[in-house]
Amino acid sequence: MYNSKVIGVGKYLPEQVVTNFDLMKMMETSDEWIKERTGIVERRFAGEGETTSLMGAEASKEALKMAGLQPEDVDFIIFATLSPDYYFPGSGCPMQTHLGLTGIGALDIRNQCSGFVYGMATADQFIKTGMYQTILLVGAEVHSRGLNLSTEGRDVAVIFGDGAGAVVLTATEDENKGVLTSHLHADGRHVEKLWLENPGSASNPYVSKEMIDNGSVYPYMNGRYVFKHAVTKFPEVIHEALQKTGYSTDDVDMVIPHQANERITEAVQQRLGLPREKVFRNIHKYGNTTAASIPIALSECVEDGRIKQDSLVCLASFGSGFTWASSLIRW
Ligand code: UT7
Repeated sequence: MYNSKVIGVGKYLPEQVVTNFDLMKMMETSDEWIKERTGIVERRFAGEGETTSLMGAEASKEALKMAGLQPEDVDFIIFATLSPDYYFPGSGCPMQTHLGLTGIGALDIRNQCSGFVYGMATADQFIKTGMYQTILLVGAEVHSRGLNLSTEGRDVAVIFGDGAGAVVLTATEDENKGVLTSHLHADGRHVEKLWLENPGSASNPYVSKEMIDNGSVYPYMNGRYVFKHAVTKFPEVIHEALQKTGYSTDDVDMVIPHQANERITEAVQQRLGLPREKVFRNIHKYGNTTAASIPIALSECVEDGRIKQDSLVCLASFGSGFTWASSLIRW
């Protein structure tokens, strides 16, 4: 059995910065409301031609460069997104083309905010069994084109941003390194609390003018309901990973929660009893980038030295489904 070690991280953020003040020109909202309720100051919106797969490819190039590898060295692609270029095929396929690759498998996974952690667990299992040696794991989102940027959609629209992150995982025989444990959960009873209902094959017809008129083509979220579950599930799934491996919160060098909302991160930090500097946040800069938020955070932490050789890092997520997950990694 092998362990899966992260040997490269990368990120890509579109150039276009959209501040809370910019949003105030599109809808009735305020910088004060957004900052107080979410911690977000600005986010990025993809420009013309910037697709989910393209941004994923750019983040991947950075991750491969850090790993000292070429795209041809990758054995398998896992692509996590809720905003694929197309309903089908998945974004892993067009991303192959952007990277100049053909032939290797490309698996898209749809686990929303938990997509990257689900992807980490999936990659780890493929590596553990020896099926693949080197896997490119990507989380990327273009939310901006699917949001209702009018006052009607303001409760959801102010939260989300675009971006991409990627990691390269490779097999190691060192059992103390890499992904130590992963824990994946879902509870489909809450599907309708955070979802994009239409277009979809559950509706007949699949798409209609009525859907556009009634707003069901935009994401819906029951914010308070989601908040309440998130602040319980994040600490629960982090403790699950620690218990499985025999570590305590004191042993952890960095918790990287999915960047859902600053108030959620704050509550998680308090419930875990950790100092502020051990619970990462960058939501003020990018908003909630769903499957991309954890790999972007990893990339920033490695860049500025907050994560280094031997750091014990805990990834945790919660989101639509509901889904929640954690992964404990010895860097
Ligand atoms: O990764 C996905 C996971 N999702 C999350 O983590 C989100 C979790 N939920 C939240 O973060 C919060 O529930 C929100 C930030 C989404 C909303 O905060 P809230 O404190 O729950 O506000 P609310 O939805 O209860 O709305 C309070 C008021 C309402 O006005 P009234 O009815 O009190 O007059 C809303 O209409 O704020 C109003 N409102 C806004 N005002 C200004 C809602 N959105 C906005 C807005 N700007 N963008």
